[in-house]
Formats: sequence, structure tokens, C-alpha cells
Amino acid sequence: MADSTPFTADFRSDTVTKPTREMREAMLTASVGDDVLDGDPTVGLLERTAAEWLGKAGALYVPSGTMANQIAMGSWGRHGDEVILERGAHILAYEAGALGRLHGLQSVTLEGNNGVLDPELVRAAIRPDFIHCPNTAAICVEQTHMGSGGRVLPLDNLTAMGAMARECGIALHMDGARLAHAVVRSGHSAADFAACADSVSLCLSKGLGAPVGSIIAGDEAFLERARVVRKQLGGWMRQAGLLAAAGLLALEHGVERLAEDHELARELAGALDGKFGLSCPPEGVETNLVLVELQDTPIDGPELCTRLAEHGIGVLPLKPRQLRFVVHRDVSGKHVQAAVAALEAILTSRLS
Ligand SMILES: Cc1ncc(COP(=O)(O)O)c(C=O)c1O
Repeated sequence: MADSTPFTADFRSDTVTKPTREMREAMLTASVGDDVLDGDPTVGLLERTAAEWLGKAGALYVPSGTMANQIAMGSWGRHGDEVILERGAHILAYEAGALGRLHGLQSVTLEGNNGVLDPELVRAAIRPDFIHCPNTAAICVEQTHMGSGGRVLPLDNLTAMGAMARECGIALHMDGARLAHAVVRSGHSAADFAACADSVSLCLSKGLGAPVGSIIAGDEAFLERARVVRKQLGGWMRQAGLLAAAGLLALEHGVERLAEDHELARELAGALDGKFGLSCPPEGVETNLVLVELQDTPIDGPELCTRLAEHGIGVLPLKPRQLRFVVHRDVSGKHVQAAVAALEAILTSRLS
């Protein structure tokens, strides 16, 4: 049976990638077991491989990036505690209010510069040990930073943040959904970045191309709590080795390839910047996300996305006057050209 896709060129997200033939074959032959009762050998192998890549003592394989982040939040915080996040953080803006709903946590948000927070501003936001104040449970950083278009948080900033957090005795969680992109772009290892944090999540099902699954990693004391929260959230899967087999291939073979996505993303930005009333300076494109500002277009983001869909191009509006294109394994230069041609057709015919 053929895979289904509503678009000829789908730039809505890097989650749309289809598993490769190698992944499907690995899934067919994976050794499996009941991961809750006895352990699943392939899940175990994936967890050990991911932990090693991240330089952490251990890791858990979980269904999604949202669950990985929320397991961390539920492990670090108790009802009434506070978490410090950058204003556009995925954990805050795109996880459906789970912080409050699931864990009774409240948030303090700070304005970042392309997702980068000043450690001294974060230090100032940590609550004093005082009967009237909530307890600050954790600080969150996001690598790469989705809301700023996949910018890479510099290693020296994260190192300073980690040192400050340790000094203050506050846990640092890294939402590393696209950490692999930061690795490829910066040349630093995943372990270098992850060393700054006490817990780190990683999505296998975005640019790395696995069909399902994410990782949450940390030291043994963290994992002990994390296993309980995973159980409470219903995220402990049974013969999940079927999926983990694809996740292993994603981690082993998906990382280096991301450089191609970064190059194509820049190419897309270069082709659109300053054209048809659009703005997206290519020098601001560091990884695989391209945020296109609708500076001088007669229609706004949602309508433009509807029109693009009529041309077979899938794109999402991140804000009313901003589109987000995500470049991934299943789009090519040909698709970029088709997107540029569709935008030209829609926007120039409207202007004339
Ligand atoms: C930065 C970031 N964190 C977490 C997630 C959540 O991942 P999932 O969709 O697997 O829940 C996403 C998804 O797009 C993301 O962009």
C-alpha cells in the first residue's frame, strides 16, 4: 500500500518524513520483548546508544518529544513549584498547558535573544528560599530554538547556564528535540551540549527520520523519578522494539545527513528573501527551519498557506504574518523550486 501524503512538497514539519526501506526491514526483524515486564532488547539497545551519544548515564525511549519534556518537568517539579523558560519555549507554548495541567507547575518566562537566555537574568529569576515564594524547580533551554527558526544556542552560553544552575542547586532541562541539528551545525558533540543539562530530550521522529519516538536522558537519580512519571503518563510501551529498531537507524545514520537539509533551507531562504513582499535573510538560517516574514503581501499567513496547499505545497503559519518552512529528508531542490514558483504565482498575481 502506498504511503499517504496530502502534498507534493510538504514543508509543514520534519515530523512528516516516512520511514526508509532500511527502517521498515529493521522493524520486521527486530528482537522484541515486553519492555514493562522484562525489558525489550531493541529498546534497551536504543536507550544505551542514545545515552552514550548524549554522554548521560542512561536514557528512556518514550512516544513523543512532548512526553519526554513532560517527564522531565514532572520529575524535577512538584505541584506549586515554578519553572523558568524562554518566552517562546515549546514546553510553554506548544504542549497544551501540560506544565499546569499535569504537574501543577507555574512558569516564569524571560525574553531571549533568538532563544538564548542570559544566565544572570535567569539567576535573578530564581526565587529566594522564603515562605512566601514558590520553589524554583527547573530551568529549561531549547536546542535548537524552534521559535527563532532553528537557531543554535551557543555552547559557551549553555555552559555558563549549567554552571549557574548547579551553583544555585536548580535542575537544568534541555529540550533537545533538534539537538542533532545543533551538533551538525556547530561541530560540537551532543555530549558537549548535554553536559550542561541535568536532563535532555531528543526527538528521533523529526529530522532524524524515525516514524515514532523520543529519548529522555539523565543520571540514575533522575531516571528513577522519570520512570515513575513515564508510568503515570502511560508512556511505557510493550514490544516497542519494533519502533526502536527504526530509531536506532535514525540515530546511527540520520545525523550527518542533516547538513543537506541545512544547505537546502538556506537555498530556500536565498530564493525568497526580498521577493514577492517576503523577508527571510539566509544568514539567519542556521539549521533546517526557515521563518518567512510576510512584510508586504496582500494576504496573511493562514490564507497564503491555504493557497499554497492548492499548489500542492504544505506550509504552516507560525504567526499571522509569518510562515514556517521546515526542510527535511523528504524534500529536495525540486520541491524548493516548486514552492518558490507557487509563492510567485500567488503573490504576484494578487499584486497585479
Ligand atoms: C522544540 C520542540 N520540542 C518538543 C517538540 C515535541 O515533539 P512531539 O511532536 O514529538 O511531541 C517539538 C515538536 O515539534 C519541538 O519543536
